[in-house]
Amino acid sequence: MDLTDSCSTRWIGVADAQELRQTTYRCILNAATRAIDQRGRFLIVLAGGSTPRGIYQMLRDAATDWSRWQVYFGDERCLPADDDERNSVIASRAWLNHVPIPQNQVHVIPAELGASAAALACGEALRGVGEFDLVLLGLGEDGHTASLFPGRGWGVAPGAPDALAVFDAPKPPSQRVSLSAARLSRARAVLFLVEGESKRNAVAQWRMGADIPARAIHPEAGVDVLLGATLLPTEIS
Ligand code: 6PG
Repeated sequence: MDLTDSCSTRWIGVADAQELRQTTYRCILNAATRAIDQRGRFLIVLAGGSTPRGIYQMLRDAATDWSRWQVYFGDERCLPADDDERNSVIASRAWLNHVPIPQNQVHVIPAELGASAAALACGEALRGVGEFDLVLLGLGEDGHTASLFPGRGWGVAPGAPDALAVFDAPKPPSQRVSLSAARLSRARAVLFLVEGESKRNAVAQWRMGADIPARAIHPEAGVDVLLGATLLPTEIS
């Protein structure tokens, strides 16, 4: 069941977490096949948090040419490089450590350096990198996405830096690095992964047009939001 609102946001209801994982897995591999066929490589940005973990585990067994993959992170928490709560560590343990993507093609944000230095390094790593083929994003209970939080700067303007240093994140740790809304929007496809009752209010706010960070992600092709059907208003689910 798809529903597109005025901001080219396609709301796609799924029955449960398993269908969300399976649908996302298919989207990722379809996007990879298309990108590799057309451009010889696949640039993907990973979502942080816990929602994508099961999807990352499924990708261990994917049939694809891993040598063509370039993996980026939408944000990173300023924690030690091997900290269990690092988004890069979560993705590596679930998936990246189990597939032969060349190490220099997994672009970990060096968040252990602290937000300022890591944001500079991340911006350097993104210099000259064109449109992402697929950006995966989560949604927080307050409408945040990546590490773009309400009431802070989101880097929306076209000339905004590619990477932002975050010092006062309400979701621990307070120090983070986030790709800016402008950089996350430079993508052929953006897929939000939303699961759990705790996201109900954020989804409702988003659908009512509230100015939340998730709404600041504006790729030309619009965005797809995969979410539990129970999170959509009953009249359309
Ligand atoms: C982070 C994430 C953040 C996350 C959302 C949803 O570093 O915390 O990048 O944006 O995607 O908070 O997190 P869950 O999937 O754990 O609900």
